Amino acid sequence: MPKKVVIDCDPGHDDAIAILLAHGNPEIELLAVTTVMGNQTLPKVTRNARVVATIAGMTGVPIAAGNARPLVRELEVAESIHGDSGLDGPVLPEPTVPLDPRHAVDLIIETVMREPAGTVTIVPTAALTNIAMAARREPRIVERVREVVLMGGALAGGNWSATAEFNIVTDPEAAHIVVHEPWPVTMIGLDVTHQALATPDVRERIAAIGTAPARFVGEVLDFFAATYLAEQGFTHPPVHDPCAVARVIDPAVVTTRFAPLDIELSGRLTTGMTVADLRGPAPAGCTTQVGIGLDRDRFWDLVVDALERIGEVSAAPPVPSGSPAPR
Ligand code: BDR
Ligand code: CA
Repeated sequence: MPKKVVIDCDPGHDDAIAILLAHGNPEIELLAVTTVMGNQTLPKVTRNARVVATIAGMTGVPIAAGNARPLVRELEVAESIHGDSGLDGPVLPEPTVPLDPRHAVDLIIETVMREPAGTVTIVPTAALTNIAMAARREPRIVERVREVVLMGGALAGGNWSATAEFNIVTDPEAAHIVVHEPWPVTMIGLDVTHQALATPDVRERIAAIGTAPARFVGEVLDFFAATYLAEQGFTHPPVHDPCAVARVIDPAVVTTRFAPLDIELSGRLTTGMTVADLRGPAPAGCTTQVGIGLDRDRFWDLVVDALERIGEVSAAPPVPSGSPAPR
């Protein structure tokens, strides 16, 4: 039985690859893609989600826009990493996949309440604003969700401040809500995702696929590599968000351990820091896990396999048989 997944994202170069991984992997039934501000403004990341769906030929998965600003703080977008569009680099086609008219929070709630209890996994790869709001708006989702597997945070060190990771520090109050609800939460933080480096061998494998979606990923990685080198001194870019999807597909890809998890809301130097208590065994009933390691080869095998399965996607909608030839 494929795992039912909702991706809540801010595409975003690595979000785009996360969507493609979920779409192309047969172990996942992608129920919805919802968007939230973060890497860029809400209109931009929502358009990008529709662009990615168009490139992947992903029709029939609702895409809905959510919150345009964090719960409490001002939005600071990650333009230095993702560019003015939020998905700079490739020439982006006009999206043909429509926007679902529902608010993302409503779509998340409707999806979780519609599906059998314990079957839907939420995979946030952005600030947790929509997820926190959904938990507050419809508290019954908390006991119905199978698991929240989020990309965000770090056990040590940050990437948006010395101590905080971007998705968490964008909306720390939302993250605080999400990790303190009693649903199972798995945090896939920088300790894991900084092992998911798109090294030249990986990029050659993706280039060898030779399809339009794979070429798109190649161009996404070209841009990501340049900004990660310029901004953060990475020789090869860390491809964060698909790590959370990979964990859902094959839990063995990411090693985790149970640990109480909290979010710093008011530190002078530490606001947005994720604090995992790794002293000794976790207390009985602990619902939070943190990622500590990545099986890098298995991870990239999953990404390459998904792109191969997506294959070539025709840009134009198929012409129904019997229709007159276009003039
Ligand atoms: C996270 O921040 C965003 O810029 C990326 O898309 C990823 O979700 C990494 O810190
Ligand atoms: Ca993201």
